[in-house]
Amino acid sequence: MTDDGAIGEILVPAEDLRRRVRELADEVSRDYADKDLVLVGVLKGAVFFLSDLMRQLSVPCEVDFMAVASYGSATKSSGVVRILKDLDAVIEGRDVLIVEDIVDSGLTLQYLLRNLAGRNPRSLEVCALLIKPERRKVELVTRYVGFEIPNRFAIGYGLDHGERYRNLPYVAALEE
Ligand code: IMP
Ligand code: MG
Repeated sequence: MTDDGAIGEILVPAEDLRRRVRELADEVSRDYADKDLVLVGVLKGAVFFLSDLMRQLSVPCEVDFMAVASYGSATKSSGVVRILKDLDAVIEGRDVLIVEDIVDSGLTLQYLLRNLAGRNPRSLEVCALLIKPERRKVELVTRYVGFEIPNRFAIGYGLDHGERYRNLPYVAALEE
């Protein structure tokens, strides 16, 4: 992809992503042996991470998607979330793993966790590729975390800025 000057410092190189996704998949495969695993991807950013993760799992699993919009500015979420696309699957009694690209304030995920918990899954956990600890506003348990990153706006490997840069094979900081 041509660099238009917006791609800043590399935060997570492609090789580190590959290695860590493999490690996370091994952990998930161990923990979900003999379970009824449904991966829930949050569109659109998590699609890239999810498809790499899922291909490395050695346990039976299904995948489903939700799309949400959070009211707020382009780079800050408000915690007020609207469901644009709901799950196709019924998750009652099943083992749900939410797969997220990034947890920033945590407000979007807090809403999703409450919403999905209300459908009575047998278990409900989170696998986030990236977290920004400095920006966290709410207490949340993220059982699986890929990398902690500094308080920078990140692009690549699914993360966008104005819908662009999702296709970068690494995670970089947006040059502002
Ligand atoms: P939160 O509700 O503040 O945790 O933000 C959740 C959503 O905002 C994420 O799922 C992303 O879609 C988006 N987001 C937060 N930080 C970044 C970033 O650094 N780059 C790209 N998208 C981000
Ligand atoms: Mg997201």
